Amino acid sequence: MSIDVAVIPAAGRGTRMRPATRVVPKALITVVDRPQIQYSVEEAARAGAKEAIIVVDLDAGHLVAQHFSLEGPLPTLEDMVVRPVVQEEALGLGHAVNEAAHMVGDRSFFCLLSDNIVRPGEDVLSEMAVGSDDGSVSVMCLRELTDEFLSKYGVVVPSSDVNDGYLDLAGAVEKPGAKDAPSRLGLVGRYLFTPEVFSILDKTVPGVGGEIQLTDAINALGAAGRLRGYVAETDLLDVGTPAGLVEATVALGADLS
Ligand code: G1P
Repeated sequence: MSIDVAVIPAAGRGTRMRPATRVVPKALITVVDRPQIQYSVEEAARAGAKEAIIVVDLDAGHLVAQHFSLEGPLPTLEDMVVRPVVQEEALGLGHAVNEAAHMVGDRSFFCLLSDNIVRPGEDVLSEMAVGSDDGSVSVMCLRELTDEFLSKYGVVVPSSDVNDGYLDLAGAVEKPGAKDAPSRLGLVGRYLFTPEVFSILDKTVPGVGGEIQLTDAINALGAAGRLRGYVAETDLLDVGTPAGLVEATVALGADLS
């Protein structure tokens, strides 16, 4: 099925990237020649999306929005409409995604976390769309994680074997740690949601860290039997930490030479 809208949460203040993010929002940290959020918008455009809704914060959100609007559309994004929505309070990733509900309406949508960048030529969104059974299930991009990452990522509960890269899921747990992890398959920042997720987020109470967690809504989709995983073949680049940013700069910069 074709998905025409993407939600890109960009309200995070990037505490793992201080002092760079004291003034500059995390979404505008540059990787090679463009801010990290632009990679996500371009990735969504490659998968056929025509509209990107960026969820920004009150303090610095206007800077993120201006990146896409000043001097007209960016050359790589001429067919993409970029629309900001403000998350007034930092109540968690689930809350941020829900701020886009009135703009998404009754459509399935991609959700991309821009501190994860896909390597050139290794897009996953189209495969995720193929796995959605024409919009009847939500599809999560997954990677197998090593122990140390089981406390840094959401981890899913599989309910079937992997078949051609896809598997059924019964739920998900936010950052469970190695001891309590239900599997090694982690949520790596690419999601395809049916609009059902918004009514679930409306009812989701604060979870880990006192925040409204997207992973808790994903868990509810699993409990309802409408959740699938797609296991990506390679890692995404995590630009949310200084070491990851260096790795991504080398990987993406190699394309320029
Ligand atoms: C968020 C999500 C987590 C997911 C991760 C991917 O965590 O809450 O479930 O695995 O993104 O990067 P954060 O990176 O905001 O701590």
